[in-house]
Amino acid sequence: MSQLIDALRTPAAEPGTGQVAIGMAVSRVDGRDKVTGAARYAAEFPADGLLFGVVVSATITKGRIAAIDDAAALAVPGVHAVLTHMNRPAISALNLFYKDMTAPGGAPFKPLRDDRILSHGQPVALVVADTFEAARHAASLVEVRYDSAAHDTNLRANLARSHEPKKKRPGYSPPPAPKGNADQAWDDAPRKIQGDYYAGVEHHNPMELFASTVIPGPDGHLTIYDKTQSAQNSRWYVSHVFGLPKDKVTVRNPYVGGAFGAGLRPQYQLPLAVMAALHLQRPVRVVLSRQQMFTFGHRPETLQRVRLGADADGTLRAIIHEAVAETSQNEEFVETVVNWSGQLYACDNIRLGYHIVELDRFTPIDMRAPGAAHGVHALEVAMDELAYELQMDPLALRLKNYAETDPSSGLPYSSKALRDCYAQAAERFGWAMRSPAPRSMRVGNELVGWGMATGMWDALQMFARAHAVLHADGSLVVSSAASDIGTGTYTAMAMIASAALGLPLEQVRFQLGDSTLPVAPVEGGSSHVATVGSAVQGVCDKLKWCLFRMAKAMPDSPLAKAHFKQVEFSAGTIRLLANPAQAISLTALLQGNAMTSIEDKYMLIPAALKKRKFQRATHSAVFCEVRVDEQFGTVRVTRVVSAVAAGRIINAKAARSQIVGGVVWGISQALHEESHDDLRLGRFMNHNLSEYHVPVNADIHDIDVIFVDEDDRIVSSIGAKGVGEIGQVGVAAAVSNAIFHATGRRVRSTPMTPDKVMLPGDRR
Ligand code: MOS
Repeated sequence: MSQLIDALRTPAAEPGTGQVAIGMAVSRVDGRDKVTGAARYAAEFPADGLLFGVVVSATITKGRIAAIDDAAALAVPGVHAVLTHMNRPAISALNLFYKDMTAPGGAPFKPLRDDRILSHGQPVALVVADTFEAARHAASLVEVRYDSAAHDTNLRANLARSHEPKKKRPGYSPPPAPKGNADQAWDDAPRKIQGDYYAGVEHHNPMELFASTVIPGPDGHLTIYDKTQSAQNSRWYVSHVFGLPKDKVTVRNPYVGGAFGAGLRPQYQLPLAVMAALHLQRPVRVVLSRQQMFTFGHRPETLQRVRLGADADGTLRAIIHEAVAETSQNEEFVETVVNWSGQLYACDNIRLGYHIVELDRFTPIDMRAPGAAHGVHALEVAMDELAYELQMDPLALRLKNYAETDPSSGLPYSSKALRDCYAQAAERFGWAMRSPAPRSMRVGNELVGWGMATGMWDALQMFARAHAVLHADGSLVVSSAASDIGTGTYTAMAMIASAALGLPLEQVRFQLGDSTLPVAPVEGGSSHVATVGSAVQGVCDKLKWCLFRMAKAMPDSPLAKAHFKQVEFSAGTIRLLANPAQAISLTALLQGNAMTSIEDKYMLIPAALKKRKFQRATHSAVFCEVRVDEQFGTVRVTRVVSAVAAGRIINAKAARSQIVGGVVWGISQALHEESHDDLRLGRFMNHNLSEYHVPVNADIHDIDVIFVDEDDRIVSSIGAKGVGEIGQVGVAAAVSNAIFHATGRRVRSTPMTPDKVMLPGDRR
């Protein structure tokens, strides 16, 4: 019988219900704190004498600041300072010191460093006052005169100067060398398609605004609450920029209200708040406005061309995928857009290309499933187009070209249950009942379309440490400087520790979100469970050995002759598997040894040599139904089934939530999200949540999540590959393909707004 984990149907364990097993559906251990308001976010930490900073944003896109008149602002009662590039505290001049742990190549933006303006909305001053209201009013009175220079934020108009990336970025792989002769094979292929794809800029728009609260303490120590995906990354950045010793800066991010990649790098409110706190020697909080959330990193605008060639039986002969994306003038941001097209389908002739163009915009930044969201979208819409060209079922075309080994590297997969994803999702969706012809299904005045696509994302593991303390009262505290950006890290880590040591979940506490804790990577790339989770497992395993040896040595120990394999840690005891009555409780063990606690630490170093022999990835199959109003061009995504192969699932409930969230992001990418640049101003015009559309509840209908069986001990010792980003990849393509099936219209740019869905011909 299939051991399908269907998270929807798995009974949920509530926190405080005792010992848990890996794979159970467990409600968030931090849920109560979040809904009661006890959980504090960066802008919610109190401090005596707290001051409030409000950022003044540049109103030009390129040029220099000629003069700043702050007299009117300073005259507002309660205003303490107006910080600008002319009066700020000392900060480093060296690019190197502004490079956070995830910085791309080039020269990072240095807030208030000098008079140069690099992008629209760049911070030019910080007004600090007793109240937020006084600061905001005074900020509106700061007069800035500029010497403007001509700017250019037009990607399409600058394709001629696109070029290959020149710099190396950690974690980014350039497209692999061509395989075979893809251009010749495409020319020769009996069936072929070609399509150009466009994706506009998207902004992350987490609910929580970027914010930092900086509290100077005795001896010049700074305690900082920051919205970030890594407290240690922010700590590193502040130390370097301000020349402060490592132990003089502590950064905390115990709760993060969504980030989606925007918090992979420190954003400018952090150094501005630090400047003000140092300048005034007072606690300072800076919160960005929703409009200012559109003045830093975004998902880059991207153009793509995909060409596929095939034999009449559907065998792929050629895959050619080229992309051009934007970066800033000062940094070289790159993401993996086209490489996926060399990893999904078996093919002898593959050519992939990726170019970038410098524009006068802030440097783009990773946003959920960076690269794959656009790249797999284009490939999967192209595959659908090819299926129609071949008059073949879109799922059958994927199965015909199923890759048993990685087509780019020739390596075997560490695990790949994509076939199961296709089969289980198609079955659940009812794909076999589809009528293949476009415009062949209708309900009332709505055309109905069914589409499908494949998804793929990395299965990453990084370096991490963990520390564990078991107290004599049976409570366990495990810690690592991880983050929980809303993804469920607290709960997953507590579950791993609870299951490992056989302790009730309520006796286990996982500590994260503090730069002084053991090293953990930035929470990104859906890698935290495989990374920090394996470190938690590692430290618990070390503690178990230690406790086992102590238990054997106890006077009259019932375990005296037992081997480690003959015992289990369960119900707060170490006991014989064969005779659970022969047990020693962990509390008795510590008390018997006159110990108040026992602790250990663990360092996880990914086994790079072993891993390099395998292609490591998560996969998904997404099926969806859309209903299109022909007169209005409005699209409703009425049903989505997503089957995901992501290794062992730790918390079925949180994992399902991650995939549901990813599907919502995919629907959003497909139908709603785009930041519109008025090219004359070089500025994003719809910089608010009334004009930058994200789905609301009324936009979201049935979402059905399936986790197929996988257990990948090459990616991680706990068998997990990580879920999160895989939930989004392929969803927008499935929507696009369903729109084609409904209407016979192929929409190749996102978002697929009603104007595009209604337009005939090539104008889409
Ligand atoms: Mo994610 S874009 O790796 O935070």
